[in-house]
Amino acid sequence: MHFITLDSETDFNGWRKAARALALNDVKPSDVNWRVADDAPELFAPTAPPLEPPHGTFNVPAKFVEQAEVAILHRNPERFALLYRLLWRLRTHHDLLDIATDPDVAEIAAMAKAVRRDEHKMHAFVRFREVGREQKSHFVAWFEPEHHIVELAAPFFARRFADMPWSILTPDACAHWDGHAVSITPGVGKSEAPTADRLEETWRRYYASIFNPARLKVAAMRNEMPKKYWRNLPEASLIKPLIEGAGRTASAMIANAATEPHKAQKRLEPPKRDDKRSEMARKHAGDDIETLREEAADCRACPLYKDATQTVFGEGPPTARIMLVGEQPGDKEDLAGKPFVGPAGQMLDRALEEAGIDRRTVYVTNAVKHFKFVPRGKIRLHQKPNTPEIKACRPWYERELAAIKPELVVAMGATAAQSVLGKITPINKNRGHLIDLDDGTRALVTVHPSYLLRLPDADAKAREYQRFVQDLKIAADLLRKSEQAA
Ligand code: URA
Repeated sequence: MHFITLDSETDFNGWRKAARALALNDVKPSDVNWRVADDAPELFAPTAPPLEPPHGTFNVPAKFVEQAEVAILHRNPERFALLYRLLWRLRTHHDLLDIATDPDVAEIAAMAKAVRRDEHKMHAFVRFREVGREQKSHFVAWFEPEHHIVELAAPFFARRFADMPWSILTPDACAHWDGHAVSITPGVGKSEAPTADRLEETWRRYYASIFNPARLKVAAMRNEMPKKYWRNLPEASLIKPLIEGAGRTASAMIANAATEPHKAQKRLEPPKRDDKRSEMARKHAGDDIETLREEAADCRACPLYKDATQTVFGEGPPTARIMLVGEQPGDKEDLAGKPFVGPAGQMLDRALEEAGIDRRTVYVTNAVKHFKFVPRGKIRLHQKPNTPEIKACRPWYERELAAIKPELVVAMGATAAQSVLGKITPINKNRGHLIDLDDGTRALVTVHPSYLLRLPDADAKAREYQRFVQDLKIAADLLRKSEQAA
């Protein structure tokens, strides 16, 4: 038996060096025992002769190295052995990773996925608390990751909070940022972390303001924000009362809503366009939105995922007859993980209501699903996505379209129009009338609600807002007419 001792739980280089030497000495996976430096030593175990210095070479697919670097951060103690077994098998079966049903291949993929998911949760649920005051401020957060992800997740916080010194404390390891470099120190106990600060109330107010009782889905919410994270979130104390009050608040919202009768959510048979559906839509015809949302959480199709908090996927009933497409999530959406919950979303909600469309019946999404910004001090300034980013994200839009099959897609603004129509489309020339798309869907182009928010002149703002409402009324009329024709 060969006993290999790695320096730490995340010692990928140590594993790689040892695995290479073992494989070149033809040591079978069953003859290797992997452990980490401070594990208890294996007493009375038979030992093996020392390994010959490795000579010779062999190649493994780059995909294996990428997956192994992430999977090794999983907390499963068997991971080192699994990775060596895969490496051993890959030497004679180079395409092994393509066999998704192979138990070892499936296991490494599941481990890498679990680690990535944990990394996303850390990005989304770390809450800094201020320690010290004014010039001497330092921001400290406590987090309990499921896997060994502190070093993996730290560069994200260094980019996001580049201007403030921070520490993230966890039981495994702590990450610190001094404005120049990230350093890692051993883990600590929770009692070392501060418990409250003056930012807490701001967080709570913000959370309460984006909480929409009409769109409450407790199961999905628990899935996105599992209960185990609640104890470290300042907003957690609000979750229970907000959920309990949601029914009452939503009823009050309905009672106050426009007098327009609430449209039946009955869905019409889709127009005869199935045969024309795009190849992509056909390929993904079986997808449902929740599966897509999960898949998109790991999207790395363009670099925007690196600085954004999370993927902001579309939201709305799977029976929606209208799909609204915006540009990309903004600051508030990026933090909340939901589209159109900030100022543009409030403008949109108001205009939809005036046009006689109930937002709860429409599916709302964005052409680009990660927030693109440049940091300016503590503010994150929105940046328009470029064509490669729009194209990289388009498969998600196509898959949402295939899953929802709306009768009408409303593209709000130039980025959405470019994605929906597949080419750069000037808004003013194309707005206000229905456009038949190749895949049989109908589209309507209009301005983005943020454009209305930016107009400095009050008269122009009022005028443009009315034009926006008029455009949305075209969508409402189309639905009404197709309902009558049915
Ligand atoms: N602007 C968008 O285009 N989408 C959002 O979700 C929010 C603001």
